[in-house]
Amino acid sequence: MDLVAVVLRVIHIVCGVYWAGTLFFVATFLQPAVSAAGPEGGKVMQALMRRRYLDVMPAVAILTILSGLDLYRRASGNFSADWIGSRHGVILTIGSLAAIVAFVIGVLLMRPAARRVGPLVQGAQELPEGPDRDARLAEAAALRRRTAMSGRWVAGLLVVAVIGMAVARYV
Ligand code: HEM
Repeated sequence: MDLVAVVLRVIHIVCGVYWAGTLFFVATFLQPAVSAAGPEGGKVMQALMRRRYLDVMPAVAILTILSGLDLYRRASGNFSADWIGSRHGVILTIGSLAAIVAFVIGVLLMRPAARRVGPLVQGAQELPEGPDRDARLAEAAALRRRTAMSGRWVAGLLVVAVIGMAVARYV
């Protein structure tokens, strides 16, 4: 038994399930519920940030990708073009790339927008009513929309990744 491969597979599957499952839950339930709750919803997001949701998820995603890359190297016999061009290889490659693009969107678009919402709303609440406060609240609303939109893209790409991982073995 190749113990390293078994450990890599366990890390890969546990982290992948956690990453994709969390993003599916966020896109389909949490984000719509938080938006519907208005200012109270903002408090839930703040509590999530304090629990370091925005740091834990990228770390879990990185573990999924690094373990996946080594599984890919092993499965493809060090990136053999024949394997990559086979039906099995193509499906795994599409799934892997979808997950990597999801990670890039999450880190470059979703995370920075989500991080800025809380401080903006807090700052706005400390201002007297007027155009400055309205401008900050409008900026926070735009960032929330960007977070939700990029979250939907990340979740959609992870659906592609999960389907690819699920079917590759059987094609
Ligand atoms: C959320 C993202 C991901 C999830 C949920 C996921 C899940 C899985 C699962 C459940 C398997 C086992 C499939 C089977 O044995 O039939 C698997 C295999 C595999 N995954 Fe992923 N994966 C993800 C991302 C990635 C990424 C980013 C890569 C590469 C960079 C990758 C590369 C692989 C490879 C090469 C295998 C096959 C390993 C083998 O045949 O021994 N995966 N993945």
